[in-house]
Amino acid sequence: MRIVLVGPPGAGKGTQAQFIASHLSIPKISTGDIFRANVSGGTELGVLAKQYMDKGDLVPDEVTVAMVRDRIAQPDAAGGFLLDGFPRNVPQAETLRDILAENGQAVDKVLELVVDEDEVVRRLSGRRTCGQCGRIWHVDFDEGRDDICDDCGGKLFQRDDDKEEVVRHRLEVYKEQTEPLVEFYEKEGVLAGIEATGTVDEVTARALAALRPE
Ligand code: AP5
Ligand code: ZN
Repeated sequence: MRIVLVGPPGAGKGTQAQFIASHLSIPKISTGDIFRANVSGGTELGVLAKQYMDKGDLVPDEVTVAMVRDRIAQPDAAGGFLLDGFPRNVPQAETLRDILAENGQAVDKVLELVVDEDEVVRRLSGRRTCGQCGRIWHVDFDEGRDDICDDCGGKLFQRDDDKEEVVRHRLEVYKEQTEPLVEFYEKEGVLAGIEATGTVDEVTARALAALRPE
């Protein structure tokens, strides 16, 4: 299955992606994670992406699309994948459609995580990420320590772009550039809206239900 997750910053895309992808045994492809790995590794791509990410702006399409094209051509993605954070505007969605069409493929389902703005700000201000295994945690909503990963013992860090003014700009960018994707995929007949409030497990259950064949 080829799945796309759409939703505002902090909606829980990364959190849900890890569970849905492992449930379906398909790779989770997160453009944000790939950019952040390049930033930590100090690669040329990372240096370029950081300039945009720190402000909460989108990295230019040609860079992002080339990266995704390479990633979905890897053998582990041949049977399907879950995209988290891509596409993020209509031109990226059109390019993805064209890339998949070259192999007679298409996006099977787009899950839109629906959550209000207050909740998003609450979620982002308490988010911590494991520097070792990548697992996403929350200081208030998850039990356990706020500095060490309960899964692997790795150190948790707070993302640079989770500062309040950057979060606000990311929300604006979402409304202007990413929200039009909802209509785009509705027209393609593959959109499913998922109520993304409630516990992580409740949201995962709703998402998996929406992915079951009708
Ligand atoms: P990216 O990493 O994709 O960030 P984002 O879309 O802003 O989304 P987030 O990762 O902030 O949130 P999320 O929805 O994954 O929420 P999470 O699961 O962590 O992109 C970062 C940057 O990279 C962009 O700004 C851009 O510069 C660049 N970029 C990436 N893709 C690009 C593209 N395609 N084109 C151009 N540029 C691109 O959850 C948030 C918190 O809430 C966590 O603490 C979590 O534990 C908690 N939480 C989750 N679910 C629940 C729940 N049900 N109840 C309580 N807490 C919950
Ligand atoms: Zn960890």
